[in-house]
Amino acid sequence: MFYRFNSVYRALILVFVMFCLFFYMFANIKLGHVKPKKHRVSRDKGYQNSRAPWCYKLPQEDDEVLDISDYPVKPNSIFFVETSCRHGNNLGLTVRQACTYESTARAHPNSEILILFPAPVFLDADPLPHIREVLSFPNVKLLRVNVERYLKDTPLENFDFVTKMGRSKFSMSHASDYLRFVTLWKYGGTYLDSDFIVIRPLNSIDNFIAAEDENRVNVAVLNVNISSEIGKYAAEEFLKESIRRFNPREWAENGPGSATRVIKRICKETRTRRMTREKCKGFTVYTPPPESPFYPTALKWRFFFNEWVDWKYFDKIKRESIALHMLGHLSDTKRIKKGARKPYDILAREFCPKVYATIKKYY
Ligand SMILES: *[C@@H]1O[C@H](CO)[C@@H](O)[C@H](O)[C@H]1NC(C)=O
Repeated sequence: MFYRFNSVYRALILVFVMFCLFFYMFANIKLGHVKPKKHRVSRDKGYQNSRAPWCYKLPQEDDEVLDISDYPVKPNSIFFVETSCRHGNNLGLTVRQACTYESTARAHPNSEILILFPAPVFLDADPLPHIREVLSFPNVKLLRVNVERYLKDTPLENFDFVTKMGRSKFSMSHASDYLRFVTLWKYGGTYLDSDFIVIRPLNSIDNFIAAEDENRVNVAVLNVNISSEIGKYAAEEFLKESIRRFNPREWAENGPGSATRVIKRICKETRTRRMTREKCKGFTVYTPPPESPFYPTALKWRFFFNEWVDWKYFDKIKRESIALHMLGHLSDTKRIKKGARKPYDILAREFCPKVYATIKKYY
């Protein structure tokens, strides 16, 4: 009796161990295939490496995507700059970036939304659904920036951009700082970071920047009208100051730091709250938080990813803001379940409905 029980017991343990082993192998196989097969990278493995600027000098092979230097950029366009090197497959654009582009395209039916890539761009025949939705807007265009050609005959011509970005501790952000300044210097218009949800038109006034706090502006949103004297002057100064003060070690020095120094000189004023359009010679410095139409919650990005918020306050900022900044470099790791009662989800459903419809469960 005892003996028989023991062998049954042993057989059970054996079955259990085998089951565990099988499960472990199965789970491992599954984990190895996180990416859906249909969209696996078929190109050079190097494209998996997102680190800028190693890919900037590679030629553009997919000629469905034009080089910006061959494109007739219209006045009052809205620019995004995507400086990573991960565009070998489906452009490497996230659902949240797609939401930013859709909300911008909707708010500005009469402006072109130009997404610029210093990396080579390959359009998939069968793009991911959220990319397909963005490309369905007739006013959204993807453009390759051939850096060498783009910077010729600009103040950045002798800056040795690619080498300098290679030395930078924050190569992707710094490349984006320089490319936004030189783009506005060339064409004027609006630059916007890819982590906003746009609620209403940005370019109903020209020549503006937004204060981040009492002492600083940032360059997450920036507009210059290069047909106006002040806009042309500001665009030139932003670019030249960032060249003079290139700092490869400080994240905020080249972009926001340079813009802050230039604005303080133009306005002859150090406190952002006191920078009126009159003092700033026709340049608008949007007020700092909490009244800011871009950063009402200041740096408290968690507000948008939380269920326990003051909904009256949420309605108020939705009513009064132009675009809301989600601080993607901090918030991108916060996953959201579709339909969750969180400000981000509510904004996405309303302002990027086509991209939102492609979300299955989490994003
Ligand atoms: C840009 O400035 C010029 C000259 O002041 C003006 O005529 C034009 O309307 C402005 N453009 C925009 C988009 O505000």
